Amino acid sequence: MDLRKGLAAISSSFLSSPSKQPVDTDRESSFQVIAEYSRSLMSCRSREEVSALTLKTVQILLDVEQPEVVFRTAEVPALLETSKLGAPNFLAYPGVEVSVRGQSTQVALLRIPEKNDWTALSKNEMAVLEAIAAPMGLRLECLRLEEELALHQAGSIRALSAAIEVKDRYTSGHTKRVGFYANAITLHLSVSAVEREKIRLAGVLHDIGKIGVPDRILLKPGKLTEGEWDEMRLHTEAGFDIVSQVAGLEEIAEILRHHHERWDGSGYPRGLRGEEIPFASRVISVADTFDAIVTDRPYRKALTPEQAREIIIELAGEQFDPTVVEGFRSAFESLASQVELPAVTIRL
Ligand SMILES: [Fe+2]
Repeated sequence: MDLRKGLAAISSSFLSSPSKQPVDTDRESSFQVIAEYSRSLMSCRSREEVSALTLKTVQILLDVEQPEVVFRTAEVPALLETSKLGAPNFLAYPGVEVSVRGQSTQVALLRIPEKNDWTALSKNEMAVLEAIAAPMGLRLECLRLEEELALHQAGSIRALSAAIEVKDRYTSGHTKRVGFYANAITLHLSVSAVEREKIRLAGVLHDIGKIGVPDRILLKPGKLTEGEWDEMRLHTEAGFDIVSQVAGLEEIAEILRHHHERWDGSGYPRGLRGEEIPFASRVISVADTFDAIVTDRPYRKALTPEQAREIIIELAGEQFDPTVVEGFRSAFESLASQVELPAVTIRL
C-alpha cells in the first residue's frame, strides 16, 4: 500500500477538525479519523503495514507515546489472562483484543504500555482502542485468508507444472524458460510487481493444455497435417478449461487461452487483435516464440538468439505487440544469457 498516503489522509482528517479541539473531546472528528483509518486499512498488504497505520492512528487519537500491537503469538493468551486478572507486571499491560468473529480468533493485542493498569485507561481510551480493534481484526483476517489462498494457489501451480513435465518430459525446461523470459521482458515495461508475477506464472503454465494433445502429434518428427494442427490448436482452450478450475487462477486461465493470438488478428483461438488480446498473453507470445526459435525443432535446427531477435523485431505490429517487442529488445541480453540448447527436439 501507499502507507504515506493513508497516514496523510488520516492526519489531514485530524488536522481539518473544524473545532481544532483535542480529538478525544470531539467525537465527530474521532469518527472521521476512524472512518479514514478503516478505508486506509484496505490498502495495507501486510501485518507490518496494518501495525504502522494502527499505531499512527492511535497516536493521533490519543495523547500517548508508544502504543503497541502484539500479534498472535504464544505469549498473547497469557498476556490477556494476566491483564484481565488485574495483576499487572511488565508483561501485563492492559489492552484490547483484536478479534474476528468474537473470541474464536484472537489475532492481536492493541495496548498502551505507559498505562500499566486497567484503571489507568479512560473510558475514551478504551472506546478508541475498541473502535480501532474491530476493523483492524477484519483486515488481519483478510490478509491471513489471502496468504492461505496464495499457498493453495502455489501448490496448485506446482502440481500443474509437474503434470506438464510428466506428460512430455521432452518439453522439460521450455515452460520454465518462457516464464523466465516473460518476466525479464516485463522488467522493461510499465508493469506492477503483482502483474509481473502473474505473467511469469502464466508463462510457466502456458502449455498445460498440451496434456490433451496425443503424443503422435506432440512428438511427431516432421510437419503436421492440417488435421493435426487443428488438434494441436485445441491446447489453448484446454489450458483455459484446466486452470480456470483452480480458485484464484481464473485470470491466468484467460492469459493461457490467448497466448497464440496475434496482434494483427490472425491468431487463435478467437482471432483477437491488438489490445483486445490480454497484455500478459502478448508478452508470453513473444517469450514463447523466442524460445521456439532458439531451440531445435523437429524440422529445423535452432537459430541463434541474434537471429531470433531480428525475426521478432520484424514481426512487431504484425504478429507481436510493438510495445512488448520494445521490452524484448531492452531485455535481450538477459534473455540471450539464459538460452540453453536442449538435448532433444520439442514442438511448441
Ligand atoms: Fe502454446
